[in-house]
Amino acid sequence: MRGLSLQRKLKSLFYVTLTGTGAYAFISVYKNDEKFYKNVLMPAVHVLEPEDSHKLGIIISKYRLIPRPNYTDPEALKTTLFGKVFQNPIGIAAGFDKHAEAVLGLRDIGFGFIEVGSVTPKPQPGNSKPRVFRLPEDRAVINRYGFNSEGHQVVYERLNHIKINESCDRIVGVNLGKNKTSEDPVGDYVVGIKKLGPVADYLVINVSSPNTPGLRAMQSKDVLKKLLKSAVETRDSLPQDSKPPLLLKLAPDLSSEELRDVVDVIKRKDTKVDGLIICNTTVGRPEFLVNSRVRDEVGGLSGKPLKGSSTRMIQDVYRLTKGKIPIIGVGGVFTGEDAYEKIKAGASVIQIYTSLVYEGPPIVTKIKKELTQLLAADGYRNISEAVGADLK
Ligand SMILES: Cc1cc2nc3c(=O)[nH]c(=O)nc-3n(C[C@H](O)[C@H](O)[C@H](O)COP(=O)(O)O)c2cc1C
Repeated sequence: MRGLSLQRKLKSLFYVTLTGTGAYAFISVYKNDEKFYKNVLMPAVHVLEPEDSHKLGIIISKYRLIPRPNYTDPEALKTTLFGKVFQNPIGIAAGFDKHAEAVLGLRDIGFGFIEVGSVTPKPQPGNSKPRVFRLPEDRAVINRYGFNSEGHQVVYERLNHIKINESCDRIVGVNLGKNKTSEDPVGDYVVGIKKLGPVADYLVINVSSPNTPGLRAMQSKDVLKKLLKSAVETRDSLPQDSKPPLLLKLAPDLSSEELRDVVDVIKRKDTKVDGLIICNTTVGRPEFLVNSRVRDEVGGLSGKPLKGSSTRMIQDVYRLTKGKIPIIGVGGVFTGEDAYEKIKAGASVIQIYTSLVYEGPPIVTKIKKELTQLLAADGYRNISEAVGADLK
């Protein structure tokens, strides 16, 4: 009898603990508790393979299952770029929502702008799996997705649906890639501009992903001139109300000479872009990486190890362009301080990806809060006043 009652007591204790843990987890998720996400939930999600956790993140965002943070963007974070109002300067970088499935969920999380893609003209499967690897000790990721894409038509339909049926007060950019076996790479970008220009707040010519053979060579002077000439002409031929700004996304692995060449090209009237995204993932493997298990996987490295080189590149380009071409700064941003460093180096707005992988959605509000405090502490009334402050 006594044995049975002990068993019953233990059972009750187990259920009480389970219910308590469940309630705690529910409340923590509901309250967007940063520490709970960072120390409990995201490590639990990381039991899955990296690509499966990415898929889970997309499903959760697509069905808008994440509670909206109880936070209103302050006026100090509002900024205007390419004549468009950004409610806040923190965007989700290309590669997370490749097929435009999760735009509204990402808006709910608090992003000020959402860049979908990269999108290729025809659907293509990308590289074989596994093709994403985590380096948790380094707060980094290596990926070689290779532009897995559902193609222009599907992405067009999804964005057009949002444009017609939803009121989305966030900027939505589209990042364009090319098909792996395309015989006319410039043509791939031209059809992308025609097809997706009318549903995009801005378009990105992405010639900097390391996982499509020959793509990064399109950053070389003569090829870039030819590409941008066609791209600018095509964009200019679109109807007035659907002429999006054109941006170019650069690789962090360009030499100083190559970078100067790029800047020369983008300043010329017939090949001028409206902005730059600095930067994509790197094929480099810094000495200081701790992880030895996956560091030598082929692909692009993102996250904390990219932070310093990305910020230096922003600074170099801001100097070379005399601050006349707006920069979207991306690479290793985990805190408001990281974002602020990039802004003072010359970025007008910021994107994140890898920090979201490790810290989950609360990181967006965390960065915005910290950035607001840093701006106020330095006496800036608005983020735009701090752009390039380090070089003034
Ligand atoms: C898994 C993964 C997939 C990515 N896919 C793309 C892509 O399709 N197109 C692109 O321009 N950049 C892509 N990127 C690069 C990011 O947009 C960003 O430039 C880079 O990760 C640096 O930012 P982060 O350190 O905040 O991640 C990808 C990055 C990751 C981690």
